[in-house]
Amino acid sequence: MTVLVTGGAGYIGSHTVHRLREQGRAVVVLDDLSSGRREAVPSGAPLVVGDVADRDVTARLIHTHDVTAIVHFAARIQVGESVVDPRRYWMGNVVATASLLESALDAGVRHFILSSTAAVYGTPARVPLTETDAATPINPYGETKLAIEKMLATYAQAYGLRYAALRYFNAAGALPDAGLGELHDPETHLVPIVLDAASGERPNITVYGRDYDTPDGTCIRDYIHVVDLADAHIAALSYLEGNGASGAFNLGTGQGHSVAEVIDVCRAVTGREIPVVYGPRREGDPPALVASPHRAEERFGWRAQRSSLERIVRDAWAWHERARTMARGDGNANPTPQARRKQEHANGR
Ligand SMILES: NC(=O)c1ccc[n+]([C@@H]2O[C@H](COP(=O)([O-])OP(=O)(O)OC[C@H]3O[C@@H](n4cnc5c(N)ncnc54)[C@H](O)[C@@H]3O)[C@@H](O)[C@H]2O)c1
Repeated sequence: MTVLVTGGAGYIGSHTVHRLREQGRAVVVLDDLSSGRREAVPSGAPLVVGDVADRDVTARLIHTHDVTAIVHFAARIQVGESVVDPRRYWMGNVVATASLLESALDAGVRHFILSSTAAVYGTPARVPLTETDAATPINPYGETKLAIEKMLATYAQAYGLRYAALRYFNAAGALPDAGLGELHDPETHLVPIVLDAASGERPNITVYGRDYDTPDGTCIRDYIHVVDLADAHIAALSYLEGNGASGAFNLGTGQGHSVAEVIDVCRAVTGREIPVVYGPRREGDPPALVASPHRAEERFGWRAQRSSLERIVRDAWAWHERARTMARGDGNANPTPQARRKQEHANGR
């Protein structure tokens, strides 16, 4: 009765492993460490370093650990990169997932949770978005996630697989007491970038476009605390294990915040100046992306508990500062590798 978490050394995966372990679930992590970090895997969860596309590895792992469910985070995740190098996304997301599912089906694994994304919706005609709204992605990243959703729907129909495709909106926040937080390379997400500007690791934050049809002219997104996301996976897993019907589920709060609002909250929480420069709009940035989270609440009783913008920024800042302090050595003579890595990353090494 073990849960296989692919990508469990990454941002959202590591938080989910932590929460699964807190609930007493047996977990094994599969991660190739292409962007994740060994030290982010919570203790008590064995890490197998390998590629989800490697059928020998996945078949052996599923057998050895008696895996009955898979939570599949491992993916390539950068929208911009997917446009210039789409084959990495079709291979790394769609082909790799098809391969993982081969091992899962062969071994009789029946429960599968996919990290999907709001990017499957493309540019929406209206918000909040419901799962029945048209899915028309506008970049290869979103296309590959939608393709995996479609693959899962046919496998559910034909092979009795039960799946939940969880369409995350904007994940943010951290679990500083567990030493977990967000660190992508390159970092493309707003909250960590703004906090880097607050701490002087970046000279400023560039806001792309302030002429959108929104109250302050900047883009609106639905920010969801990473621990709320983690808990949604656990709720979805219990739902599937209780024979809940497969499908796609939005994970958001139902409330949007503009880029300018995020920067203001970061200023208030950190007490720092945050210099802003304005750039042109980026192609493919919809003015607003906000989830209707009702289906997840109705079906598996989940709703966001700690996703106020203040809480998200407070937790992200606490992790950010803790990692920096430890890296400098003033808080702990023995900085964690993750903290050291963050400092090296900040120094451009
Ligand atoms: N961060 C967000 O805001 C967000 C929003 C929507 C969807 N998602 C989805 O959530 C998932 C996790 O995102 P994240 O932000 O934690 O990313 P991340 O890069 O921090 O984590 C991904 C992890 O997967 C591993 N990995 C990648 N390819 C692999 C492979 N072929 N085999 C084994 N391991 C592999 C990486 O080493 C990394 O540890 C992704 O599927 C992403 O598409 C994230």
